[in-house]
Amino acid sequence: MKIGDKHYRSLWWDHSQQVLQIIDQRRLPYEFQIQNVESLQDYLDAIFQMRVRGAPLIGATAAYGIAHAMSQDPSDNNLQRAWDALYATRPTAVNLRWALDRCRQVMANTPEAERADVSLNLAHNIADEDVGINKSIGEHGLTLIRDIASRKNDGEPVNVLTHCNAGWLATVDWGTATSPMYHAHDANIPVHIWVDETRPRNQGALTAWELGNHGVPHTYITDNAGGHLMQHGQVDLVITGTDRTTSRGDVCNKIGTYLKALAAFDNNVPFYVALPSPTIDWTLSDGVAEIPIEERAEKETTHIQGTNSSGSVDTVRVTPECTPGGNPAFDVTPNRLVTGLITERGICEASAIGLAKMFPEFAKAT
Ligand code: MRU
Repeated sequence: MKIGDKHYRSLWWDHSQQVLQIIDQRRLPYEFQIQNVESLQDYLDAIFQMRVRGAPLIGATAAYGIAHAMSQDPSDNNLQRAWDALYATRPTAVNLRWALDRCRQVMANTPEAERADVSLNLAHNIADEDVGINKSIGEHGLTLIRDIASRKNDGEPVNVLTHCNAGWLATVDWGTATSPMYHAHDANIPVHIWVDETRPRNQGALTAWELGNHGVPHTYITDNAGGHLMQHGQVDLVITGTDRTTSRGDVCNKIGTYLKALAAFDNNVPFYVALPSPTIDWTLSDGVAEIPIEERAEKETTHIQGTNSSGSVDTVRVTPECTPGGNPAFDVTPNRLVTGLITERGICEASAIGLAKMFPEFAKAT
């Protein structure tokens, strides 16, 4: 995606240094800082501290983490050590396990002497595949936006609401939920995006930053504003991402997504979830009962980060000293509230039948 005139992915391999480079997302939207990821500890920190974040990007980073481990010591023991350490970084996004399992499976059939090269190529493939998948999601999602636009007056924008950042920063490129928005904008369909702030970490500011860089009109709103906007006909469509989708189409995404789905349901606003197939956990059915929800540090709720009047990044407390904070990072939206799933193969019903029709080979295997 574009920053100024330059195209960036959210991670890339620097061939001259033979090292992975990432954009430190903790510094955005205030500072654009590129970092090298050079040791297994760097990989663990990058995911755990959310320098990289978003389900698909976590998966791609983990694949490069395995490649790094294989370049240091290609033994089975080291492979397992790296797998375990990377797997423990974040519990909810299933793309992490998907990428790690894929790497382990390929390594099982690769002689030790070839593992460094093969795993690095695999990581490149996983990153490239993610870009292709998200582009296709955008093309399918574009049909929804085009259809709504065709019922509007000339020049009147399609108002899309999104939660968190399921943008190019959360993937290798394009994003999932944002991909249809970028495709619509590039096709000269007027769109306007309502960007949920997404407390406590304010990933909405990342979405605003990327939409701004791409020239897509948008407005940043508090998390509580969406229902009101829907009641007043100011939202045509909701599109969010997901960190884990069950085989029956329950979706687990950033905390607050469920409330948006309830409000959309109550107001007859279509609520779509965009996802690449690696985000489907075919082993689970009931998302509320079965998906592990990450509990994050209370400081994320009791404090807030921003730039101060001298332009430097600062953190301030927003609660009384003695008030504890609770911080579940994700929630589950049951399939009955989801109008449809936008996948790389097309749009399907959020149901066991809908997903099985779209991905028969995976549904059959479980
Ligand atoms: O905690 P985060 O910032 O990693 O959570 C990200 C989200 O919830 C995204 O919506 C999800 O990963 C989909 S990203 C294409």
